[in-house]
Amino acid sequence: MSLLIQEVPATQAPMALLLLADPSEEKIISYLPRSRCFVASSGGVVVGACVVQPLGAGAHELMSIAIQPAHQKSGHGTALLKWVIDFFRRSGASRMEVGTGTFGYQLAFYQRQGFRVTAIDRDFFIRHYPEPVFEDGIQLFDMLRLTLRYTAHVA
Ligand SMILES: CC(C)(COP(=O)(O)OP(=O)(O)OC[C@H]1O[C@@H](n2cnc3c(N)ncnc32)[C@H](O)[C@@H]1OP(=O)(O)O)[C@@H](O)C(=O)NCCC(=O)NCCS
Repeated sequence: MSLLIQEVPATQAPMALLLLADPSEEKIISYLPRSRCFVASSGGVVVGACVVQPLGAGAHELMSIAIQPAHQKSGHGTALLKWVIDFFRRSGASRMEVGTGTFGYQLAFYQRQGFRVTAIDRDFFIRHYPEPVFEDGIQLFDMLRLTLRYTAHVA
């Protein structure tokens, strides 16, 4: 079934989905009002969401991307990520940043679309979350900062 991707007001962001990507509802609530939210639907059912925060001067940060567990590994995440990258390319963005863990399939997910490691934020997951965060049974400590530089700008 084809995927329909649309921007929705931040007030309509599907919180349950965003919590799959970031366990802190408090953090999500703090960045949502200054962000743009995109949802992906299949057959009228919301299956994915992505939140992007403008940082100024053409830079944007992908704050969250998530696909409903039952719909993962079907290409929807890649389709949504590509769509959002293209949306901001067409709006004249200069770069898109994202923060992610130092291991796991998410790292490949972003790098496949051209994101490259630009910095390491040591102990990020210790400083920003009250509880230890685990991925695949391994505790996350450091955050990798990835950047996608747009080479072509559309006026
Ligand atoms: C990350 C996420 C959005 C990817 O969406 P998706 O629809 O599953 O992604 P795709 O189907 O396009 O697959 C992309 C790749 O990731 C792999 N992948 C997806 N989920 C995976 C999982 N749970 N474990 C291992 N690999 C996984 C796919 O196999 C695919 O790799 P391949 O092309 O080598 O087969 C989705 O898995 C998700 O919502 N995860 C939980 C939230 C999250 O971690 N968000 C990112 C925060 S940094």
